[in-house]
Amino acid sequence: MELVTSIQSMHDLAERLRREGKVICFVPTMGYLHQGHLILIQEGKSRGDILVVSIFINPTQFGVGEDYAVYPHDLEKDIKLAESVGTDFLFVPTVKEMYPESYQTFVVVEEVTKNLCSLSRPTHFRGVTTVVTKLFNIVRPDVAIFGEKDFQQLITLRRMVKDLNFDIEIVGMPIYREEDGLAMSSRNIYLNHDERKAALSLHYSLLKAVELFSCGERSTERIIGEVSRILGAEKLVTIDYICICDTENLRDLAEINTDAVLAVAAKVGKTRLIDNVVLRPSQ
Ligand code: PAJ
Repeated sequence: MELVTSIQSMHDLAERLRREGKVICFVPTMGYLHQGHLILIQEGKSRGDILVVSIFINPTQFGVGEDYAVYPHDLEKDIKLAESVGTDFLFVPTVKEMYPESYQTFVVVEEVTKNLCSLSRPTHFRGVTTVVTKLFNIVRPDVAIFGEKDFQQLITLRRMVKDLNFDIEIVGMPIYREEDGLAMSSRNIYLNHDERKAALSLHYSLLKAVELFSCGERSTERIIGEVSRILGAEKLVTIDYICICDTENLRDLAEINTDAVLAVAAKVGKTRLIDNVVLRPSQ
């Protein structure tokens, strides 16, 4: 595995590989790699000739008062993990080079970024779409892999790639969970023992919703009510949102008569966690 830290080197490498006819597969991350990331990277290995992983804690996707300054990082460990799953190039650019002082250009996807996480993080997706555009232009991938754990991010990036005519296939991968069901996240490290236990209620509330849905419940109000009751019973959990939306346009639904995503975000102690499940009436 080769560690690449300058934009020019990564760009030149990508150009050379493309000229050689290689299929470049790309997995962007913010590092502090866990099994959820590694599953994406392993999938990437099977989808291209060359696998590029990036690690970049992107300042523009963090709002004021969020955890940018303390976001967990361990580059030494990440290097070993990325190498162990077959990464060919690990791209770790600097903030200074990605966002020089004169920087002033942003990419905005309009409609699908209005709901869900944007309600409490209004500038988050503008940062995500901007950095992913920059990374796409530098790495020039044929295929890029993202997790369904960040469902709105995946839908937003699919929209962006379509709207801006990026010639890149976007692959979505299912949520990878801890053995007890908690969705893996770099932020789980923030949780203390009691918070870790309370965090499981996110998963349980989704399981309960799936059970109701399987028994024929289609009213989003009633399903959201039940999820809210379960999360509300946990003293350490503060609900940010519970939404059931159309998986295509992320608009709120009253009845689940099309594929829908039930997405929850909550603070457990000070840590903001998200989770979701897709409900398909046709199955
Ligand atoms: P990060 O949170 O590091 O996640 C990198 C990728 O891993 C994302 O596509 C995310 O959805 C996926 N992922 C994280 N946890 C997962 C899990 N438990 N199961 C499946 N996939 C999981 O998402 C970002 O970074 C950033 O916003 C980024 C896209 C890199 C732009 O800065």
